[in-house]
Amino acid sequence: MLGFTNIGHAVATASLCLTVVCAAEAAADHPGGATTLPAGRRPGIDEPFANLSLDERFLLAPGRAFFRDPWVPAPATTTARDGLGPLFNAHACVSCHPGGGRGKLDDDGAPSVALLLRLGRAAGDGIVEPDPVYGDQLQTRGLARSAPGAVAEGAVDVTWASERGAFADGTSFALRRPDWRVADPAYGALDPATRPSARLAPSVRGTGLLEAIPAAALLAREDVDDRDGDGISGRASRVLGDDGRVDVGRFGWKALQPTLRLQVAAALRNDLGITSPPRPTQPCTPAETACLASPSGADPPGGVEIPEHLLARLTQFTATLAVAARPRAGAEGMDSGEELFVRARCDACHVPSWETGAGPEPAAAGHRIRPYTDLLLHDMGPGLADAVGEGDATAAEWRTPALWGLGRAVRDPRRTSLLHDGRARDVTEAILWHGGEAQSSRDAFARMSADERSALLRFLESL
Ligand code: HEC
Ligand code: HEC
Repeated sequence: MLGFTNIGHAVATASLCLTVVCAAEAAADHPGGATTLPAGRRPGIDEPFANLSLDERFLLAPGRAFFRDPWVPAPATTTARDGLGPLFNAHACVSCHPGGGRGKLDDDGAPSVALLLRLGRAAGDGIVEPDPVYGDQLQTRGLARSAPGAVAEGAVDVTWASERGAFADGTSFALRRPDWRVADPAYGALDPATRPSARLAPSVRGTGLLEAIPAAALLAREDVDDRDGDGISGRASRVLGDDGRVDVGRFGWKALQPTLRLQVAAALRNDLGITSPPRPTQPCTPAETACLASPSGADPPGGVEIPEHLLARLTQFTATLAVAARPRAGAEGMDSGEELFVRARCDACHVPSWETGAGPEPAAAGHRIRPYTDLLLHDMGPGLADAVGEGDATAAEWRTPALWGLGRAVRDPRRTSLLHDGRARDVTEAILWHGGEAQSSRDAFARMSADERSALLRFLESL
C-alpha cells in the first residue's frame, strides 16, 4: 500500500544530497546524520549540531543564555531577561528540560517542576474550552506569596494505583496508574467539568531535524480510515501555522504546535509568563485581576517582553540542539532486537528513518535521520487517554514520540519517567501501556519469550 509513497520518497532523497554523503549519513550510529555529536560527547545545551561552523556556534550564545539563565520579574536592572510571570511554572527552560533533555518526575512519582497540568472542559460537540478561572494550564507559581499580587494558581497532586498483569510466559509485572489533581486552588473551585491532562517535558534535542521533515512526507503516511486494514491509522494534527494557514502540528505530546517558533512562544507565555510577538498576552483570565494588573517587562511599554529578533535567537538555539551518536549500534545481538521491533510492528508508528528537507534552520536540511517517529496522532486506547482532548487531538490520541535518546533517558532507573506523564518506570512498562491502535504491538511484546524481550529492550536502549 505504501509502495508509491516509498518511490516518491526515494526520488526526493536522491535530489537532496549527493549519493555518497547520503550513504554515509544513513549509518545507524548517526541518528541525526551529519548533525550528530561524535561518539563520546554527551549531548547537552553546550552541544549544538556537529555540522555548524565556529562562527555559527558563536552566534548561538545569546539563545543559549535565554534557554539556560533564569528570567527575573520586571522591573529589573536587566531589561533583556525580565518579565517573568506574574503567573508561571519555572524560571528557565532548563528547569524543565535539563541540559536540553527530558524532564523527570521526582522520587516515587512525586510531581516535579517538569510536569505541567493542562486544563480543559468538554463544552459539547467535541469542543474543549479552558477553565473559566484557571485558563488552559495550571501555573504553580506566582510572583506574590500572598494577595493582593498574583499568587500561584495551585499545586499538582497525584495518587498512584498499582495494577498487575502477566506476560504470556507467566512472568508477572506491575504498572502504576496516576490520578492527577489540582491541589490548593487559590482562586476558588475549578469548574466542575474541568479535567487535568498531565504532560512531562520531552527532550528538545533533535527537534530542529523533526521540523525539517517535509509536511508532504508526513501527510503521505496518514491512513485516517485505516484503508490498509492493519489496525493502525495515524492522523496528522492540523493546526493554525505562523502565517494563519493550516499546517501540520508536530510538537508537544498532542502535536499542537506546527513550528519550533510557535512552540517556544507558547512555552515562554504559558510556562514562564513571557509575552512575545506570536503570543502577546499573559495567561491571566478575567477572574485573575491581580495577574492582569501586574507590571510588564515590555520594553517599550505596551509591547511584548521578548522581541522577534531575540525569540528568533532562542528558537534557533533550540533547533540546533544535537542528538548523540549510538556507540553500541553495531553491538552483537542488536540485529535481532531490531528485527523484533519490526516484527511487532513498532515501526508502523515509530518510523525509523526520514529525509529532511529545507526548513527554517538551514543546518537541519538534507540529512538522512533516524528518529523513530511518524509525528502523527494515534488513538492509544483508554489506558493512556485523558478525560478531554486538546486542539485537533482527541482525549485518547497522542503523537508518536521520537525514540532517539531513549537509552540516555533510562540510564538512571530510579528516576526513569517515560510516556506523556512519566508513569512508566522503564521501557517495558512504556510498551505495556500501549493500547488502541498499538494493542496488537503490545500483545506481540507480551507474547515474546524473556530472551526476545531483553533483545528488544537492548536495541531500544541503544537508541
Ligand atoms: C514548566 C516546565 C517547562 C518549561 C519551563 C519549558 N518547557 Fe518546554 N515543554 C514542557 C512540556 C510539559 C512540554 C510538552 C507540552 C505538551 O505536550 O503540550 C514541552 C515541550 C517543548 C518542546 C517540544 C518538544 C517535542 O518533542 O515536541 C520544545 C521544543 C520546548 N518545550 C522548548 C522549550 C523552551 C525553548 C522553553 C523555554 C522558553 C521551554 N520549553 C520551557 C515543559 C516545559
Ligand atoms: C499505533 C502507534 C504505535 C505503535 C504501533 C507503537 N507505539 Fe510506542 N508510542 C506511541 C505513542 C503515541 C506513544 C506515546 C504515548 C503516551 O505518551 O501516552 C508511544 C510511546 C512509546 C515509548 C515511550 C517513549 C517516551 O519518550 O516516553 C516507547 C519506549 C515506545 N513507545 C516503544 C514502542 C515499541 C517497542 C513498540 C512495539 C512493541 C511500540 N512502541 C509500538 C505509538 C506507537
